[in-house]
Amino acid sequence: MTDMYIHRSSYVEPGCSIGDGTKIWHFCHVMDGAEIGENCSLGQNVFVSGTARIGNNCRIQNNVSIYDGVTLEDDVFIGPSVVFTNVKRPRASKRGRFEKTIVKKGATIGANATIVCGVTIGENAFVGAGSVVTKDIPENMTAWGVPARIQSYGWLRREHSVPGLKDGNKVKTKET
Ligand SMILES: CC(C)(COP(=O)(O)OP(=O)(O)OC[C@H]1O[C@@H](n2cnc3c(N)ncnc32)[C@H](O)[C@@H]1OP(=O)(O)O)[C@@H](O)C(=O)NCCC(=O)NCCS
Repeated sequence: MTDMYIHRSSYVEPGCSIGDGTKIWHFCHVMDGAEIGENCSLGQNVFVSGTARIGNNCRIQNNVSIYDGVTLEDDVFIGPSVVFTNVKRPRASKRGRFEKTIVKKGATIGANATIVCGVTIGENAFVGAGSVVTKDIPENMTAWGVPARIQSYGWLRREHSVPGLKDGNKVKTKET
């Protein structure tokens, strides 16, 4: 933990690992054991639990909690107020088992989406704002809605594609 920025209003517990160039803005809480890579940005009011894993170059916008069981690979964008979950059928009376949620490299999750736990959001996939994700989203797909569905023109359009993505959008659709 050398070249990083932590705003003085944030509480970063001593046992976590934070990579160089990462910025942690106002009112964040990073728990003991959390691992955050290099060159990430955590916006205002972001919470990171002790077993959460965040790769390099991730951008997490305001008001997001990265709970136990959630892994963000490198280059992931999490829009403002995205909600992750980690127990599928929670009850106040008993502690549920944490399920894993994986957001693969280069994926984007739009503002205010809810991710029901136990899913994988594929490499470079794009989840539209306000979606409720209940199933895996395959790599390079754009999905949105409640529940989130891959859209008929679901492959990333060129303007949303990731620079360097092999063949841009020229990937076969399900229908072809
Ligand atoms: C998913 C997204 C990239 C699609 O953009 P697009 O390909 O330009 O799509 P369009 O705006 O042309 O919309 C196509 C249709 O899908 C609908 N649509 C688009 N995004 C939607 C969403 N998130 N939920 C439901 N419907 C959506 C539009 O209403 C439109 O419907 P219509 O054909 O009946 O008029 C974009 O809408 C989105 O959700 N971006 C995320 C923004 C965000 O959260 N940013 C966070 C940082 S501020």
